[in-house]
Amino acid sequence: MSDQARDQCDLLFAGGEVIDGSGSRRQRADVAVTDDRIVAIGDLADWHAGRKIDVTGKVVAPGFIDVHTHDDYALLAKPDMDMKVSQGVTSVVVGNCGFSLAPLSFTEMQPGLALLGDEEAFRFPTVSTFIGAVDDAPPALNAVFLVGHSTLRFGALDRTDRAATADEIKVMRDRLEEGLKAGATGLSTGLFYDPAREAPTSEVIEIGKVLQDYGARYVTHMRDEAEGVMDSLEETFTIGRECHSRAIVSHHKVMGGQNGGRSIETLACIDHHCQHQPIGFDVYPYAAGSTILKADMLANSTRVLITWSQATPEAGGRDLTDIAAEMGCDIYDAAERLQPAGAIYFSMDEADVQRILSHPNAMIGSDGLPFDAHPHPRLWGTFPRVLGHYSRDLGLFSLEEAVRRMTSLSAAQFDMVDRGTLKTGYFADITVFDPATVIDTASFEKPIQAAAGIAHVFVNGREVWAHGQGTGNRPGRALRHGHAVAA
Ligand code: ZN
Ligand code: CU
Repeated sequence: MSDQARDQCDLLFAGGEVIDGSGSRRQRADVAVTDDRIVAIGDLADWHAGRKIDVTGKVVAPGFIDVHTHDDYALLAKPDMDMKVSQGVTSVVVGNCGFSLAPLSFTEMQPGLALLGDEEAFRFPTVSTFIGAVDDAPPALNAVFLVGHSTLRFGALDRTDRAATADEIKVMRDRLEEGLKAGATGLSTGLFYDPAREAPTSEVIEIGKVLQDYGARYVTHMRDEAEGVMDSLEETFTIGRECHSRAIVSHHKVMGGQNGGRSIETLACIDHHCQHQPIGFDVYPYAAGSTILKADMLANSTRVLITWSQATPEAGGRDLTDIAAEMGCDIYDAAERLQPAGAIYFSMDEADVQRILSHPNAMIGSDGLPFDAHPHPRLWGTFPRVLGHYSRDLGLFSLEEAVRRMTSLSAAQFDMVDRGTLKTGYFADITVFDPATVIDTASFEKPIQAAAGIAHVFVNGREVWAHGQGTGNRPGRALRHGHAVAA
C-alpha cells in the first residue's frame, strides 16, 4: 500500500472518544473506514476522507449486538429495523426461546409462534431458504440464526404435548443439521412453553448431539425461572456437557416475589459451572418480562399489562385487573377470554435485576417482541437504558464495561467473526452516542419511542441511523456461523 493510499478513507469519525468494546478505558482517537472495514484508529488528523463526521464530545463504539431477539420475521417484514438501529444495535441473534421461523411451513397458527408474527411468516421449510431470503432482501442490520426446538417439534410431531419418539428425534436432528450446515449458530429451546414442556432432557440431548460437529451453541429459555430455577440451571448445564457445546441461559432472571434475592444462588451456580464448561447468559434491564398470555404466569406477577389480544384488540396497553373488573370476572377468566394474547408481567425484584446485570459475564439482550401492538419497552429501550440508566445514572458499572457486554463479549459467545470490537481490519459496525444524554425513552405507557443520544449508526460501513431517523439503507448481512461474511 502506498503512503497516499494509506492516508485515504471513505469515512472518518473525527475527534471522538473511542470505547473499543474490549473493556479498556476510552481513548481520544479518530476512526477511519473504507468500504465495509475499519482501516485505521488513532490520530488521523491529516487523512483525506470522502466523508468526515465530527464526533467531538461523543463516544465511538462497536455497534451493539442484541443477543436475544424474536426478530426472525421482522428482518423481512420490517427491514429498516428502526426499533433496533435506533438503539445502536447493528446485529441481532434470532430464533430464540425454541421458536425460530425456519424450518417450518404451514398455515395453521400454533401457540408460542405468535411471538414471531402471523401465519404468513411461516413459509421456510429449511433454514437455508430462510437465510437465502435474508440474503436476497437484506435488512438494515446483521443477523445470526438459531434453530428452535419447538419449531422442530411442530414440524416433526403430530402433537407436541408428549415426548418425541426415536424416529421423530432423528427427523429433528437431521433438520437441525441442515440448519447448522446453512450457517445457523446453534439450537434454542423454550422448555418453559407448552410445545416443549413434555420434552424430557434426554430428547434435547439426543437432538443436540449434532451441535458438537459444528462447534455450535445450546441456547435456552429454561424450563423454570421461578421456584425451580436451580434445577433448570442444572438441566441446562447437563445438556451443554452432554452435547459438548456452550450453554447459554436466555434472559436470566428469578421470577416471583417469594424468590426475590435468589439471583445470589443462581449466579454462584453459574460461576461454579463456568470453571468446568463453557457457559454464557444474557439479561434485559427491566424488572418485568413479556411473552404470550399464560395463566401460570399470573400468580408470580404483581401486575399484568396486556400487549395484544386477538379476541379483544382494545385490551392492548391495559391492566388485566381493570379488564377483569369490567368483565365482572377474575383475572384467570379474563385472561382466558382475551386469548390468543400477549402480556407484560411485573414479576422480578429490581435488586435481582441489578445483581444479574452487574455480573461481568452478563450479555445484554432485549427479548423485544417486534409485532406486539403495545410492546414491552425493552423492544426500543434496552441498550440505551443500560448505558444511560444503569451505567451513567446508577453507576452499576463503567461505560466501558457496559459497552463490552453488548459487543465483544457477545461476539465471542456467538462466534461472530471480525465484529464486536473497534479494531483495524474488523467490519465497520459502529455506533456513535452522546454519553451525557443517551437514555431510553420507551416506557410501559408509551413503548414505541426511539431512544435519545444515539447520533450515528453504521452497519458494514453504511449509515442506517442518523440523528433520530433511519436512513433507509439496508447493508445488513446474514451471518453464517464462524464465517467473516463479506458482501
Ligand atoms: Zn424466552
Ligand atoms: Cu425470548
